[in-house]
Amino acid sequence: MKTTTDLYAYAQNVEILREDILRTEYPPELRKTPPLFSVAMASSLLDMSYQSLQRLIREGGIECNEDDNNKRVFTLEQLDIARKKLQSNTRKKDYYIARPENIINPYVISVANLKGGSSKTTTAFHLAQYLAMQGYRVLAIDSDPQASLSSMLGKIPLEGPDVEGSQFVSPEQTLLNLYSESKQLKPEKTYWHNLDLIPSSIRLFDAEFIMPSRQMNEDKFQFHRVLHDELRSSHFIDYDIIVIDCAPSFSYVTLNAIYSSDAMIVPVPPSHLDILATGAFFDQLNLVLTQIEEAFSESKSFDFILGLRTRMESDLESLRNGSRIAEIFGGDMIQEQAIISKAVKVAADKNMSIYELNGEGVNSRTYKRAIECFNAINREVLLRVIDAWSVKSKHFSKTGAN
Ligand SMILES: Nc1ncnc2c1ncn2[C@@H]1O[C@H](COP(=O)(O)OP(=O)(O)OP(=O)(O)O)[C@@H](O)[C@H]1O
Ligand SMILES: [Mg+2]
Repeated sequence: MKTTTDLYAYAQNVEILREDILRTEYPPELRKTPPLFSVAMASSLLDMSYQSLQRLIREGGIECNEDDNNKRVFTLEQLDIARKKLQSNTRKKDYYIARPENIINPYVISVANLKGGSSKTTTAFHLAQYLAMQGYRVLAIDSDPQASLSSMLGKIPLEGPDVEGSQFVSPEQTLLNLYSESKQLKPEKTYWHNLDLIPSSIRLFDAEFIMPSRQMNEDKFQFHRVLHDELRSSHFIDYDIIVIDCAPSFSYVTLNAIYSSDAMIVPVPPSHLDILATGAFFDQLNLVLTQIEEAFSESKSFDFILGLRTRMESDLESLRNGSRIAEIFGGDMIQEQAIISKAVKVAADKNMSIYELNGEGVNSRTYKRAIECFNAINREVLLRVIDAWSVKSKHFSKTGAN
């Protein structure tokens, strides 16, 4: 017979093993470092020709470094400076469009769907890095206890020794701190210029037990808008855009992420199961938001909800289900489809985005196609944010509200 005493003993056994596992499996040299971009890659990210960039470097207008093989390389910071210089020197004004000054709060976008493996994390990760590379101050929030986004962004989502610069994640660093005790979130810098992170860990699951109990016991507690209110506090005004990666479950944590968002991206792969699961996602979301509307007399709206076709192949099934996905959203789609790509797979195996991969391990055509595809998707999202900013900005200057 096994009892709770045995369960406790199993947990204690893991504690005894923990130190040995952490020491052998996570040596400090595993730490992620920022990428260096070749001139070809930098020119693609700066949206200019290779020749023009080479010329500007030769003329001394744009700075970069040389690597050990005397090849020119750009750091993310150099790329950011180059983008700003190009913007001020050219008439081409679409390099970087700043958040309007009268918009105080960051723009919050969640990437959500109920179905596991629909490319939520891949989408959120590439979007956050892309926006940071465009010169925006970005915060990525990992709202999934599986913590894949945290791993991608260089964290080791396990509790470990609390030493300076440690990449381990304690529960206090995650959203749990906010959900369980209403403590202020403390974003951390990542290795990626302009991109900070609130990491996650398996302990975020605890929030699912704590939040209903708080709702019953605390008079003013509103379970659905904890994250919403925190992200509109003064600690976050330096961020232009916040990207939240959601878990594949409809939980208190996911509801908070969605409720805190100005906009939502819903990735859907082209299979009938994914399509049906997306229906269940919207059904549940509608039910809960309607109940909140009735209970708290507050309605929730989004500036935009965009479907994104992910893991698309060029076969008939993808084509047929791709059109079905467009039907779900009544045309509110990201036009570019995320193709299934070896470049994404090779990058993911190395805990990287395709931006970091720098073409290693895939042929240049495949790589170029993947970069173009993700750039186009991210660009569409950015343009929607810029539109939303413009509408809000005009509204605020008329009403004085924010
Ligand atoms: N365009 C793509 N090409 C190739 N592989 C992809 C692509 N998009 C996602 N993948 C791979 O599919 C798997 C699932 O993707 P991802 O982790 O982004 O999904 P998810 O929706 O976040 O999953 P979960 O629901 O578990 O959080 C990962 O191994 C990822 O690398
Ligand atoms: Mg995920």
